Amino acid sequence: MLLENKIGLVIGVANQRSIAWACAEACLSQGATLSFTYQNERLKEKVEKLTANLPNRLLMPCDVTDRSQIQAVFDEIEKHYGRLDFLIHSIAYAPREALEGEFLETSREAFLMSLEISAYSLIELSRHAKRLMTNGGSIVTMTYYGSEKVVPNYNVMGVAKAALEASVRYLAFDLGKYSIRVNAISSGPIKTLAAMGVGDIGKMQSIVAERAPLKRNVQASEVGNTALFLLSDLSSAITGETIYVDCGYNIMGI
Ligand SMILES: NC(=O)c1ccc[n+]([C@@H]2O[C@H](COP(=O)([O-])OP(=O)(O)OC[C@H]3O[C@@H](n4cnc5c(N)ncnc54)[C@H](O)[C@@H]3O)[C@@H](O)[C@H]2O)c1
Repeated sequence: MLLENKIGLVIGVANQRSIAWACAEACLSQGATLSFTYQNERLKEKVEKLTANLPNRLLMPCDVTDRSQIQAVFDEIEKHYGRLDFLIHSIAYAPREALEGEFLETSREAFLMSLEISAYSLIELSRHAKRLMTNGGSIVTMTYYGSEKVVPNYNVMGVAKAALEASVRYLAFDLGKYSIRVNAISSGPIKTLAAMGVGDIGKMQSIVAERAPLKRNVQASEVGNTALFLLSDLSSAITGETIYVDCGYNIMGI
């Protein structure tokens, strides 16, 4: 039971295909107590159903563009549990028109919104988490290879993920003195709601299956297991890293 007596907050479950949900399942299998947020009323019912049978769970609204909702989430956790041990940040957004065509055409509005939701939110959430991580803690976020190399259509999201990965390093430095670790998982393509918005996910997956050393695509459960490792004490000396869970795709030159 790697996460026995640990209190975690999961941000980013939209449905049972969400990477955040795969992370939650891995954590639950190792004894964690989890709380969840949902982005809006439309997604509330799905998250409510998925988590209904979990003992001692909180379920709260949290659109990360709304400061008062973020504050309320952490206030509620403080009131209910008194502390927090880990945070899973598994959210991203870019307007659809920014995820097709030329990156050159990215509007100021699309850029700011994508960076705010996909990267800045980690900073703000980590600041709140620090207050409750009085026994140290672990924070994990999700990134993608489009931060380093050009992946057609990924566009502004690649820039947001580059900002996210750099934020992980700066946060790891600031929070290290409080024994709080911060890491990113760089997952290969997985068919989720968010992934459907980025070009042809089916085509991306067939390229990975052809070229990756393991000759297949990653499963969400494998990302979940890596999150479990990063959130547990097994990874106690790892911080500021981006760990690839992509069947080895990123090591290939051609
Ligand atoms: N699916 C992939 O191929 C893949 C690969 C690498 C990284 N990722 C990353 O994994 C993370 C999770 O995505 P996913 O693939 O599980 O898709 P998903 O659609 O299941 O999850 C995305 C989540 O982001 C949330 N979100 C969007 N805007 C928000 C806002 N303003 N406030 C709060 N929440 C908001 C959505 O509600 C949703 O729960 C994202 O950061 C994504 O970029 C996904």
